[in-house]
Amino acid sequence: MTAKISKIGILTGGGDCPGLNAVIRAVAKTAINDYGIQCIGIKDGFEGLVLNKMIDLSYENVSGILNLGGTILGTSNRADPFNFDIENTGNKQDLSSQAVDNFHKAGLQALMCIGGDGTLSIAYNLMQKGIPCVGVPKTIDNDLFGTDITFGFDSAVHIITEALDRLHTTAQSHHRVMIVETMGRYAGWLALYGGIAGGGDIIIIPEIDYSLETVCERVHERNKKGKRFSIIVISEGVKMPSGDYQIKTRDEGSHDPIRLGGISIWLARKIEKMTGIAARATVLGHLQRGGSPTSTDRVLATQFGQVAMKNLAEKNFGVMVGMNCGELTTTPIPDIANKQRLVGPNLPIIEIARSVGTSFGDI
Ligand code: F6P
Repeated sequence: MTAKISKIGILTGGGDCPGLNAVIRAVAKTAINDYGIQCIGIKDGFEGLVLNKMIDLSYENVSGILNLGGTILGTSNRADPFNFDIENTGNKQDLSSQAVDNFHKAGLQALMCIGGDGTLSIAYNLMQKGIPCVGVPKTIDNDLFGTDITFGFDSAVHIITEALDRLHTTAQSHHRVMIVETMGRYAGWLALYGGIAGGGDIIIIPEIDYSLETVCERVHERNKKGKRFSIIVISEGVKMPSGDYQIKTRDEGSHDPIRLGGISIWLARKIEKMTGIAARATVLGHLQRGGSPTSTDRVLATQFGQVAMKNLAEKNFGVMVGMNCGELTTTPIPDIANKQRLVGPNLPIIEIARSVGTSFGDI
């Protein structure tokens, strides 16, 4: 019989999102309550493993954090032990052996990695160096393979919905076109769900081709019907007709350096020019990642944390937990790496939105 696990490490990698602390709490409490396993928190994602920044996650340390946004452990979207930027100098070295040494010196026997595609790819590479890992999917973008839903998404959709509710009043009062830009990278889930929940008149997502003429026609049509305002929700990953993205900046140190942003500002200018109607853009940006998780995200994060811990204690390593068709599942990490779950243009939710009069700028 193989020895029972007695001590593990937990880290959060990539961008933060609401619900990370709820997962940390669920993992640590399940570890302590159900398995008598000690948990060590690794600070600032994989940076903490390379630089040996660790704290004890006692029961007391993880109490009272369920409702907190962000991550008590800190995170990094740059720290990759295999390509580590030494003191942010741009001098990159493979310090994965140092990370592995620190892992063993701390007496850790497995690693719980809470993060997105980049974090889970690093976890997989560390497994090849003998570190047993289990993954928990995180992103507001909801675009990870191997799960129908990621925690953080519902909280972000709530923020978009509230923003749309607020912008409706100015749109109505000033007879304007108000355009709201959501995050989501190359996937349109946030714009789609936020747009439906907030009653967006036109939702533009990367997965459905739109035309500027159709968008403007739709705005005119509404005006003719006496609706002298329109709300447009657009995803940051929508391309301009030239085929280019609006790129805000580049973060060279990170897994995917391109930072999208600004498509709503471009669209507002085009609409004003083509319709003569005043248009304003609001880029929601990081507001979508901040604050307390919704109750749905707290429950999902708790489910993911408990199931992930159970798999880790049972030594079912190399998997990511997920929720598929309402069931808690596990998927081998290599099966999800470098893949993106986009909105299917034929999903029932698209047809439903069209039936209630939402345009996707295509017809
Ligand atoms: O993946 C989450 C996300 O918030 C995206 O929606 C967004 O494009 C990106 O991260 C922003 O990254 P950063 O926080 O590095 O600017």
